Amino acid sequence: MHLRHSDHAHGPPVVPVKFILEDPMGLTGKPQAEHDLMGSKGEHLLELAFEHGINIEHACGGVCACSTCHVYIEKGMNHLSEASEAEEDRVEEAPGLQRNSRLSCQCEIEGDGPIVVRVPAWNRNAVKEVPH
Ligand code: FES
Repeated sequence: MHLRHSDHAHGPPVVPVKFILEDPMGLTGKPQAEHDLMGSKGEHLLELAFEHGINIEHACGGVCACSTCHVYIEKGMNHLSEASEAEEDRVEEAPGLQRNSRLSCQCEIEGDGPIVVRVPAWNRNAVKEVPH
């Protein structure tokens, strides 16, 4: 599925964003679980991960029509755009819902960070359960 990119130009990559992968082999093909990246304001988390080879599932292509890009924000929630009603409704369908659950395609970087994002191990499995 093609990934929708944010509509506007990004600033320079100045915001520290750490991704913690519960299943690094499944998401990157490598065993490294922690990835310290630099994101740009205006960029969404799914996009940033993708640019760095972290293949978070995104069955709908980043248009808030699935919940496969579900992640947990462990730190820096207030440095991300607020969840829209559409995102809140959609994320409730995600397995393993927590208070810090977000859809990574909907979280735009707004503040200076740091931001810490945990990608659950079942991220890759969720999409396989969706009938085609
Ligand atoms: S990729 Fe479908 S909601 Fe994020």
